[in-house]
Amino acid sequence: MQSLVERDYFTDYEILKNPYGFFNELRAHGPVYQPPGKDYYIVTGFEEALQVLRNHEVYSAVIALQGAGAPLPFTPHGSDITDQVEAHRKQFAGGDTVVNLDDEPHTRLRALINTLFIPSRLKESEAFIEDYCEEMVGKAVAAGEVEMIGAIATPFVTMVVADLLGVPMQDRQIFMDAISNAPPPGSLDGEDRMETGTHPFAIMGEYFYGYMADRRANPQKDILSELAHAKFADGSSPEVYDLVQLGMFMFGAGQDTSAKLLGNAMKFLVADPALQARVRADPKLIPAFLEEVLRIEGSTKQTARLARKDTELGGVKIPAGTKLLVALSAANRDPARWSDPNELILDRPKIKEHVGFGRGKHVCAGAPLARVEVRVIMEKFLAHTANIELDPAYHPNGVADLSYEPSFIIRGLTKMYLKLTPSPSFADQTAQAATVA
Ligand code: HEM
Repeated sequence: MQSLVERDYFTDYEILKNPYGFFNELRAHGPVYQPPGKDYYIVTGFEEALQVLRNHEVYSAVIALQGAGAPLPFTPHGSDITDQVEAHRKQFAGGDTVVNLDDEPHTRLRALINTLFIPSRLKESEAFIEDYCEEMVGKAVAAGEVEMIGAIATPFVTMVVADLLGVPMQDRQIFMDAISNAPPPGSLDGEDRMETGTHPFAIMGEYFYGYMADRRANPQKDILSELAHAKFADGSSPEVYDLVQLGMFMFGAGQDTSAKLLGNAMKFLVADPALQARVRADPKLIPAFLEEVLRIEGSTKQTARLARKDTELGGVKIPAGTKLLVALSAANRDPARWSDPNELILDRPKIKEHVGFGRGKHVCAGAPLARVEVRVIMEKFLAHTANIELDPAYHPNGVADLSYEPSFIIRGLTKMYLKLTPSPSFADQTAQAATVA
């Protein structure tokens, strides 16, 4: 019989839906391990993951999007393949998107993104998020039930990022539909729909070209205008193509990741009523709770790097041209770093050291937004309810009935049907509103 480590991470439904046993088994062979018959290593150790993510000199991010399982578009030669990587960059999936770029081109683009997430802008965004959550969660609680992933989490995060970027109101529904009809990135159930024009990026790309051209000609007071007129540090202007890529990447990167984090967090609350009651009674615990969820069940399971120079990692020789799957989910449960790694512990010391948002120069640019949006909607759900539980009509066996996306990138639920019991104050408010009406 095939042992667990011989099974294929990228195509094995069972492992994609629940990777933790597989990662533990790999770690038993060492924190950096080449599964039998594979041409890549899997990094499951926390320290080793940090070493890879922080060492930009040695490790290229060019395979971050296509993953360690996909073949390289060239045969590596010698102890330093930096030039070969650059010569073939366009042949890598998303080779010139920010998450795949290296060195100066990455630094230039990343500096543009960083200007979007300044505290004052997030504060403005938080006001929109508050109002939008109030309406969305209020409707769900009034109805007494909701399907959390499709009806709340996905449209919520699309709307938030659309608002942050300044996508016009009339176009937002089009983006929401394009995204909610598509499987998450890295899904085994996905298909390449770029050619048919139904891929969300194909649909959104046309709009983003329009926004950039329009805002360059007619600047307004919005972020799209700011992006359209943004300059690199040396005073040069980015190509429209780069801005469109960037705008769409922000959309993509902030979709399933945040939406699924919200679902994963809610799962812990419905699985443990005492935890739910504790967090409801003291909402100041929500940020720490979310960090711990990012550690134990973060929504991005992995990323990938390509060694561009000969090196050594965790006692293993890594020749230039070696692909590495950096298993963030495994590093976040590495017993060498975390005590009781499989337990959710609310007051875990130094919890923000988790790698749920990655680390190093590519650390998630949207982390500040993700933290705000998921916190605010959790606050609303807990404030407006006396109890949240799984709907037994859909999940008769409780959390055991929940199913995860078969994605090599995303860790998140496909659906989660909830029963919502209104809090006394919410019930009063609704009754008063009904009397006035
Ligand atoms: C819970 C939600 C999120 C999680 C778990 C998450 C996770 C990650 C991770 C692990 C990386 C690093 C990838 C690598 O090193 O190869 C990353 C990068 C990135 N994320 Fe997020 N992300 C989340 C939300 C968002 C949001 C809301 C946005 C924007 C609106 C966003 C934008 C980005 C961008 C632009 C990068 C690339 C940064 C760079 O390469 O310099 N993310 N994210």
